[in-house]
Amino acid sequence: MLEKIKETADYLLNKVPNRPHVAIILGTGLGELASHIQNKVEIPYTEIPNFPISTVEGHSGKLIFGKLGEKDVMAMQGRFHYYEGYDMEQVTFPIRVMKAFGIKTLFLSNAAGGMNPSFQVGDLMVIRDHINLFPEHPLRGKNIEELGPRFPDMSEPYSQKYIKLAFEIAKKNNIKLQRGVYVGTQGPTFETPAEYRYFAIIGGDAVGMSTVPEVIVARHSGIECFAISVITDLGVIGVVEQVSHEEVQKAAAEAQPNMTFIMKEIINGI
Ligand code: HPA
Repeated sequence: MLEKIKETADYLLNKVPNRPHVAIILGTGLGELASHIQNKVEIPYTEIPNFPISTVEGHSGKLIFGKLGEKDVMAMQGRFHYYEGYDMEQVTFPIRVMKAFGIKTLFLSNAAGGMNPSFQVGDLMVIRDHINLFPEHPLRGKNIEELGPRFPDMSEPYSQKYIKLAFEIAKKNNIKLQRGVYVGTQGPTFETPAEYRYFAIIGGDAVGMSTVPEVIVARHSGIECFAISVITDLGVIGVVEQVSHEEVQKAAAEAQPNMTFIMKEIINGI
């Protein structure tokens, strides 16, 4: 495992001029932020040793290095979802590589279904905490001490500092911003009405099929995290509607300019 991580990190280091401290993972239909990156070096996942290959529709599957404003960044366009059949080690392998690369802060975006009755389609939700309902834990198995502790602390999975900053930026720029708990499930089915209700009862505000494994491994590695969900459909009791991947992508595309703005502002201020 350590050798694989080193091999991949060394391969990437040879390809890029600068070593970024900030990484970004762009969710379904949320690739716009990548178009703001200047002096790009793009590396398709298919060319990166030890990287799995992303298959889901809406992802082009590449790493992008370059400048976002003044900051060097590394962006993943397309992530590895558990529902695609990857195991948790594959899903979170890029995070291990990020750590080896010197990444200190990870920004994540995703599309999610909203259970909170005050949410509307198109809302942005800053993730303040999560509930891990994936059937496999990314840290299950022998712990590699070089990568992090056996029993990692999870008292601040999402950095309070950046959450606060996001709300300041939103207020100043008249952007509607929600805050809530993200429930991570394996998918690939969207939720039944009873499942949405269950997730709301246990304390969830939104549900999706990503982010949680990546954040767990990032925290294991000591990387700070900040994440935003775009609410692309509603699973609110009494208003559960049909949902399709196309609708999720459409709603994500419409909401993403504000998300891109907030992420860019925070990254610029780091
Ligand atoms: N459930 C799970 N994942 C999702 C949803 C949803 O309603 N919307 C977008 N991703």
